[in-house]
Amino acid sequence: MRIVYLVGTAGSGKSSLTAAYTDWLKSNEQIVATVNLDPAAAILPYEPDIDIREYIDFEKTMLSHQLGPNAALIRSFREAVREIENLIDDVAELRADYVLVDTPGQLELFAFRREGRELVKVFKRFPSVLVYLLDPVTSHSTRLFAASLFLTTSVYFSLDLQTIIAVTKIDAVPRRVLRRIKRWINSQEALEVDIESKGGGVQMLITRDLVQTMHEIGRMFPVIMLSAKKMLGLGALHAEITKMVGEGEYELR
Ligand code: GTP
Repeated sequence: MRIVYLVGTAGSGKSSLTAAYTDWLKSNEQIVATVNLDPAAAILPYEPDIDIREYIDFEKTMLSHQLGPNAALIRSFREAVREIENLIDDVAELRADYVLVDTPGQLELFAFRREGRELVKVFKRFPSVLVYLLDPVTSHSTRLFAASLFLTTSVYFSLDLQTIIAVTKIDAVPRRVLRRIKRWINSQEALEVDIESKGGGVQMLITRDLVQTMHEIGRMFPVIMLSAKKMLGLGALHAEITKMVGEGEYELR
């Protein structure tokens, strides 16, 4: 069994990719299970096999503890993760080749809080990989791209998981934006030149220095471009995942 975490900023396409990759895996004769870790998810484009909403009632938490949505999310997530032994048993029982874990919209809830790290640590008994969803819609300028790279490396440092960067929604952004992002990914120099061309100042200097370090780290992460909506790039994603976590026992079926 392999665990694949889908992590990214709000609206980056985690649930859509969970649904699309599930379909792709099933059509390639893999046994796949899905886990929803977002206590506040309203509608999901797939039917989760394990759903955090069955462990905890987010709305009830909000009302009974008189909390705002963010505090209630933190509390719900914490309470659900207390059930981790049950969660592990439930996941193990699924006997899937791949378990796709759709993480909360609020990235920090999973990536930067103790509960998320605890969960990842316990689940490391299975080969695990993290797919970081980089939303091109919010990474189209040099500074936004640098910020996304910064966030990716922060998640990597926090969770300590092998990481793949998936640039999502490639059907929804102009080709020139994708070409630009590809160039920034492939060449630190190109990114630095573009940063400098936007004018000087302290922010430029900081961005350039950050990019030098992060690009170095980022080179460890394979990058693929995909669209969940158009089912593009899923084979490439799977190839990178299997490179990292090996092929499932049933791969040759
Ligand atoms: P939260 O959990 O709420 O943070 O969202 P999410 O990261 O799970 O994103 P979700 O899959 O809900 O997608 C957010 C929006 O982006 C939805 O309107 C999707 O239809 C859209 N979207 C996701 N993937 C794609 C894609 O590949 N192409 C296009 N065009 N839209 C997409």
